[in-house]
Amino acid sequence: MHWTQRISMCSLSAAMAVCLAVALPQHTPAQSASQADTSAASEQNWWKNAVIYEVYPRSFQDTNADGIGDLNGITQRLDYLKKLGVDAIWLTPIYPSPQVDFGYDISDYENIDPKYGTLADFDHLIAEANKRHIRVIMDMVMNHSSDKHPWFIQSRSSKTNPYRDWYVWKDGKGETATSPGVPPNNWESDFGGSAWQWDPTTRQYYYHKFYAQQPDLNWNNPKVHQAFENIMRFWLKRGVAGFRFDAITTLFEDPQMRDEEVLKDKNGKPIMQDGRPELDDSRTNNLPEVHPVMQEMRRVADEFDPNTFPGKRVLIGETYLPNIAELLKQYGPPGKPEFELPMDTQIGFINQLDVNTFRSRIDDAETRLDGNIPLIVFDNHDNPRLDARYGDDLHNIDIDRVISTILFASRGASLFYYGDDIGMKTTPPDTREDVKDPVGLKYWPKFKGRDGERTPMQWDTTANAGFCPEGCTPWLPVPPTYKAVNVEVEEPNPDSLLSWYRNLIQLKKTHPTLAQGEETMLDTSNSKVLSWMRHTAGSPTVVVSVNFTPAPQTVSLSVPGTGGSLKTLLKSPGGAEPTSLSTIQLGPFGVYIGEVQ
Ligand code: NOJ
Ligand code: CA
Repeated sequence: MHWTQRISMCSLSAAMAVCLAVALPQHTPAQSASQADTSAASEQNWWKNAVIYEVYPRSFQDTNADGIGDLNGITQRLDYLKKLGVDAIWLTPIYPSPQVDFGYDISDYENIDPKYGTLADFDHLIAEANKRHIRVIMDMVMNHSSDKHPWFIQSRSSKTNPYRDWYVWKDGKGETATSPGVPPNNWESDFGGSAWQWDPTTRQYYYHKFYAQQPDLNWNNPKVHQAFENIMRFWLKRGVAGFRFDAITTLFEDPQMRDEEVLKDKNGKPIMQDGRPELDDSRTNNLPEVHPVMQEMRRVADEFDPNTFPGKRVLIGETYLPNIAELLKQYGPPGKPEFELPMDTQIGFINQLDVNTFRSRIDDAETRLDGNIPLIVFDNHDNPRLDARYGDDLHNIDIDRVISTILFASRGASLFYYGDDIGMKTTPPDTREDVKDPVGLKYWPKFKGRDGERTPMQWDTTANAGFCPEGCTPWLPVPPTYKAVNVEVEEPNPDSLLSWYRNLIQLKKTHPTLAQGEETMLDTSNSKVLSWMRHTAGSPTVVVSVNFTPAPQTVSLSVPGTGGSLKTLLKSPGGAEPTSLSTIQLGPFGVYIGEVQ
């Protein structure tokens, strides 16, 4: 699928209203840190109810005034993350890189890009995070390296170089003494155009699923396996809690290199995208050979003691898949575990507030993953932020409450993106000259790239929103909304989105039913309000209702075997206080969470 297509799947839907009232245990951050459960069982199982925060290091906090976020900046903000209640942070790539794809083009897998700091800064970050019982998860990009990686520099130097077979090389078709001919087949890059790049030195093409500066590694070569096993060990020994595997479904290609099918419309005509036919990607994506590789990486992670902090080392997958059956495969067959947490993109990327679709996808995660833990995710550095995919510009904060409730009050682990915690908006560049993401430059103005979701974190009302010292120029401009949308302003306001996130996360972590309970959908013919219950033996059942519409709604729920009275745990600010399951009133895009007595 082309990047531009993935983006065009996003629809601008409608949304609205606000509120909040809570009856939660009052833990100060210091208390919760000192009370962290460090038992062996807890360390082994931490990921099953984990709250994971994606940090885009370039945009989080700059400490040396070069306008680019750095590791020391993340360390400086750990107390904020602790107070938010996160168990782990996932850092997008911080390795040395020419930064063509902002770190996803790695030229040295065992070091830190000087823009972000040093290995000593990294060790310091880990040590400070550990003090707060926060785990650090690295990005692991195994599908491709940078074309500036020494492996590729060697590989392209001659056909007989020992590294030649580390990448995917192929003759073109119809080559003559004066012309390279045409690429070996019709495969397309996800970033547009042919996936084959002619290399004049050895007169062959190399394959790149992404930019030409990101040549694909050849996973049929055992040396590539060994190299990545050792890279993983390098970071695991430094104390990381696991990895998020980038583009993992594209590790292998059809060994016969056959053309992919051209997708046709209902009239049988090829579907065109940017002047090229759209392909089914069946020869370059989701090939079964990836599974043994993930079992191998799982074995490497399991070499490290799960009983002591950082506990079980987890493998997270970037797994955009077409359906729940394909997602299930990512956990591995019986006795051969793969990912603990492949991302469930079925739920978070529905991209419209449609109750029935949400209900069936959440129910799928509960009933069709063989009891595995779903990793729910709505947002990341590759997609427009929540406002652009779910908001209506009138009720965006209320809609953020609806979404975060699905994220944190469903069973499983929750992954969210920096800035969602305060309601940051997608802010794309105004002109082509301002664009930093090459894919935005290529497709401007139809697609403006991914800069809009990567703008600096908004910490306060000072110049540059506190992202970098006064006088510096942030690598992307701070959105004008920062004066009202920032941590400093939202922190003291009990009705702010930040307070909502904190309360909801604390509820997820401390309420036994929300921490472990099973999930059952309620009121299943309602197309305006999504309701479910969480239940587990020995702890009160919890009901959750979220209004997907801008109009007030009333729902009547029934939970067999209970008296039907309710104790509110959390509700949108200003929302009514129901006493009975039979009458739960919700304001526009209102949320209610209560214990059934
Ligand atoms: C997925 C990453 O999230 C994205 O940012 C990157 O461009 C591609 N993989 C290629 O590594
Ligand atoms: Ca590949």
